[in-house]
Amino acid sequence: MISLTINRAAMRAAMPARQQLAASQAVRYASTKSLKDAVAEVVPQKQEQLKKFRSEHGDKSLGDIKVENLIGGMRGLKVMLWEGSVLDANTGITFHGKSIPDCEKVLPGAGDLGLQGKEMLPESMLWLLLTGNVPSKEEVKGLSEELAAKGKLPSYVEKIIDSFPKTLHPMTQFAGAVGALNHDSKFAQGYKDGIKKTEYWKPTLDDSIDLIAKLPAIAARIYYNVFGRGDGVQKIDPKKDLIGNYSEMIGYGDNEGMTDYLRLYIAIHGDHEGGNVSAHTAHLVGSALSDPYLSYSAALLGLAGPLHGLANQEVLGWALGMQEKVGKNASEEDIKEFLWSTLKSGRVVPGYGHAVLRMPDPRFSALSRFCDTRPELKNSSIVQLVQKTSKVAPEVLKEHGKTKNPYPNVDAASGCVLYEYGLKEWSYYTVIFGISRAIGALPQLVMDRALGLPIERPKSMSLDALEAFVKK
Ligand SMILES: CC(C)(COP(=O)(O)OP(=O)(O)OC[C@H]1O[C@@H](n2cnc3c(N)ncnc32)[C@H](O)[C@@H]1OP(=O)(O)O)[C@@H](O)C(=O)NCCC(=O)NCCS
Repeated sequence: MISLTINRAAMRAAMPARQQLAASQAVRYASTKSLKDAVAEVVPQKQEQLKKFRSEHGDKSLGDIKVENLIGGMRGLKVMLWEGSVLDANTGITFHGKSIPDCEKVLPGAGDLGLQGKEMLPESMLWLLLTGNVPSKEEVKGLSEELAAKGKLPSYVEKIIDSFPKTLHPMTQFAGAVGALNHDSKFAQGYKDGIKKTEYWKPTLDDSIDLIAKLPAIAARIYYNVFGRGDGVQKIDPKKDLIGNYSEMIGYGDNEGMTDYLRLYIAIHGDHEGGNVSAHTAHLVGSALSDPYLSYSAALLGLAGPLHGLANQEVLGWALGMQEKVGKNASEEDIKEFLWSTLKSGRVVPGYGHAVLRMPDPRFSALSRFCDTRPELKNSSIVQLVQKTSKVAPEVLKEHGKTKNPYPNVDAASGCVLYEYGLKEWSYYTVIFGISRAIGALPQLVMDRALGLPIERPKSMSLDALEAFVKK
């Protein structure tokens, strides 16, 4: 009997050399896709899923809208499609179904790419958010290389940043520089050239990758101009990951702990479902077909608000104020007293409470866990004070009785670690958050275009119209 199993080596030997090379490349590319190829595979599946779901369930109700919702900041209303992550009040954030501890286990980290450090890479998180799949090490390496190749700023953006007064808040500078990059937007150009609606997602993805690649250089240039730290030179090493290069540009390249902390910080701040101010802003502005640079510039301005991203700057100022008052080895009683003095003065306790969560923020827990693994942080008096406060504050806030969630959110911990590593310029902290939020908000913009979502246009009502409506 003749066997039909043909030996691969024998097949190769029978092939001409050029054909052999093409076959070996085909095998390599099949196992290490580019991010664009991976998204191209997902888009038709998502389009089909939406089409089917809409036709079968388009008329199902997701709940009533109460007057209270309209007046109360639309809390809890299910009114947006958001693919990357879901925030559950009692279990916290999941990214395509994966919790932060799950992500820490499965997403390729610095060590997997032969870099110093252990934490998951924001590139891995970006891949997961865009495709719903865990990338291989090789895929993440390819993405890191792509980002490094696209990381340098055009000179006009450098000049714009250099011309800002040092006294202009770093977040305003960040939004200005990001908005200016729309000068080179492939989406804006494609739209002008009349590309088909079904193709919109492609230049949106190109712009998004380009922007994510350039955010570290923008942020580093702002740091240099405002605070004179780092050297302001765009040193982008193609062998380093996105955050390895960022850390180098802001002067922490040889600080392994800080570089790894920045990776973790930026990976876990990326996405927090769609309704938060920065994510929602990117989606809303993008729904007018503004390109990714314009949409994300607007998102950054929302992130700059003290009830949202700016809270991480506020927490540090507040915690240092507490340290000055209560000393380095404060007792629980001292901390309680300080918390009450904040509340009695009519201020909120920064870093506590959340519009959705009703539990300690898992991002806070991840950062705390990082602190516990690093001796230089474990013994830091400000880190210890923040951790001690997180044990005492819930009790005080419960007794105070106003906030629906008395537990720490991510901002309670994020700034004190940066401070301990020597990055003491608090007004810069939200810029680091701004590098991160792009890896969640921009993938959704790509999905918005892939799914052909329309311009957002909810209905508003005046108080008089509301009164007339309820009397009917
Ligand atoms: C995050 C935040 C804006 C959510 O707001 P929210 O959804 O309106 O929160 P709640 O529904 O629990 O607010 C109910 C009341 O509790 C108060 N409250 C909420 N968090 C509080 C806090 N940390 N300290 C004191 N009071 C607080 C609110 O100001 C509100 O008071 P009001 O009725 O007098 O206006 C709010 O908790 C806050 O201001 N926290 C401090 C800032 C912060 O850490 N922001 C970062 C969030 S990731």
